[in-house]
Amino acid sequence: MRPIILDVDTGNDDAVAIAMAVGASGLDVLGCTTALGNLTLSQTTDNTLRTLDALGRSDVPVYAGRAKPLVPRPYPFAPGRSSGLMHEATLPLAAAGRGAAHEGAVDWIVSTLRAATEPITIVAVAPLTNIAAAVIAAPDIVEHVDELVIMGGGHEFGNRTPAAEFNIYADPTAADVVFQAGFERTVVMPLDATHDVVMDRAMLERLDALGTPGGSTVAAVLDFYITGHDLTHPMEQAASAPVHDALCIAYLMDPEVVELRHVHASVDTTSFHNYGRTTVDVNQRLDAEPNIWWAFSADQARFDRALLSSLQSASSNEGPGKK
Ligand code: BDR
Ligand code: CA
Repeated sequence: MRPIILDVDTGNDDAVAIAMAVGASGLDVLGCTTALGNLTLSQTTDNTLRTLDALGRSDVPVYAGRAKPLVPRPYPFAPGRSSGLMHEATLPLAAAGRGAAHEGAVDWIVSTLRAATEPITIVAVAPLTNIAAAVIAAPDIVEHVDELVIMGGGHEFGNRTPAAEFNIYADPTAADVVFQAGFERTVVMPLDATHDVVMDRAMLERLDALGTPGGSTVAAVLDFYITGHDLTHPMEQAASAPVHDALCIAYLMDPEVVELRHVHASVDTTSFHNYGRTTVDVNQRLDAEPNIWWAFSADQARFDRALLSSLQSASSNEGPGKK
């Protein structure tokens, strides 16, 4: 079993990533850390707890992260199409029967990595505030991470602004710190890849019909998301939506779900119009070593296979000691 730490801002698509991660046979979710992002920190924490409970995985601890970005924003949020139409303040799942752990996310990430006897994988599908804060507090932790998989950024286009993807835009300084932190392998699932794989209502019906906690949880949380995505960011296929965060878990299950290239990528932390933009040196114009494995495309059929196999697994309901 591959141990992972999952950093989320749940968030309807984050809930899908959580469901896949606890259902995937090769992954062992050590804990979820929550970030400020799609919603307030208390909302993302509550939604994460609800999701894990619905999946029958109340044994997975949840650690609340930082309630503010790493540094104050130099510019106010650009007016945009409301993400409130995509991410529900409270997911349509029963109230959680427990609270977050007392330890904060950043302290837990540092202590868990320092105590690790085998490498741990970090999957970060939210603004990178917690991961950056952990790296700043304890730069040595990168040695304990075999792979950092991030949902964020876009080479061709943004979604929060024309230039920037939401997770990076929400805390560009944190993303910059993480991109440069020297992790052994940093893999980024940007919009270039996540927009290649969508989910629609026919898939939700298939998932619901699985009759598993994973299938019904995902069907419950994605209906609202698909409606909101369609209203605010319509895709080529009507009534469908990219489920960005889920691609990170599909990648861990089947690395060939995406096409990766090793490139140098950086984050704009200063300019007004390009604030939070990821600049990817595809033509090697800079004398800079590649620092990121960037996904330029993704395969829908492989994604669907990973999705179905993780959600049809009964293991998401096995509780403590899933092996
Ligand atoms: C990312 O932003 C959030 O709204 C989603 O949960 C995803 O992590 C997509 O840009
Ligand atoms: Ca997210």
